Amino acid sequence: MRKSILDLVSMKRQGKRIAMLTCYDYTMARLLDASGVDAILVGDSLGCVMLGYPDTLPVTVDDMIHHARAVVRGCQQALVVVDMPFMSYQISVADAVANAGRLLKETGAQAVKLEGGAHVVPQIRAIVEAGIPVQAHVGMTPQSVNALGGFKVQGKGEEAAGRLLADALAVEQAGAFSVVLECVPPKLAALASRTLHIPTIGIGAGAGCDGQVLVSHDMLGMFTDFTPRFVKRFAEAGETMRTAFKAYVEEVRTGTFPTGAHTFANADCDDETLTRLERACHDTVPE
Ligand code: KIV
Repeated sequence: MRKSILDLVSMKRQGKRIAMLTCYDYTMARLLDASGVDAILVGDSLGCVMLGYPDTLPVTVDDMIHHARAVVRGCQQALVVVDMPFMSYQISVADAVANAGRLLKETGAQAVKLEGGAHVVPQIRAIVEAGIPVQAHVGMTPQSVNALGGFKVQGKGEEAAGRLLADALAVEQAGAFSVVLECVPPKLAALASRTLHIPTIGIGAGAGCDGQVLVSHDMLGMFTDFTPRFVKRFAEAGETMRTAFKAYVEEVRTGTFPTGAHTFANADCDDETLTRLERACHDTVPE
């Protein structure tokens, strides 16, 4: 049975921690889903990880749909949340509802995520009223990297902490089923988690959140263009892949791959047929 937003909310009530990871393609979705992960985020981080952009700003709704469809095809038990990319919900409430609708209708995902606090309350309310579950995202919001002056910890100092808490409460009241807290001081994130009724999912926000999310390619050691402090590497898959690619190149060059084990020997032509074919070639090729 696929997990629903209600399962995540009830996990918080029961004090069970929620595990979420990002995913952008079918093969990874199959592997991730089989791990028992509670929720999968098709994050707009795909802009950096899959498409090689320096940040998430160029990502389009069509990019998100393309990747989210593949993820949904590979996933049976985890809740799938799709990010709303930059400028797909900021311009107007009508735009936000239409784009959230496309993201669900054209992918089969169960929820959308969007960045921002009090200023996106009208969008959250309208999307939720359209029957689409919304995960909010406050603290360090990568789509606002230019306004924030870089990827920095948010909520430092009493005023900023108060604002962050107010944002978290505002998105809960607007109907969000969960909120991501990114790069938030751990005690503030723990306070928000105790105060809110909806689950908080932390990334760089300490162990006091109701759940955690990481970019899969970061935690697997596959994406190393930049590694935030909050990333723990659970594997060195990048190194494993580099070693395998090098071994393949070497074996192709030396002729040690393929061997008989990797060829269709049974379907081979017999020697007589080959000789006839060779003769026929000589007869047709002009001198
Ligand atoms: O886009 C993304 O992957 C995210 C997570 C880092 C929370 O928003």
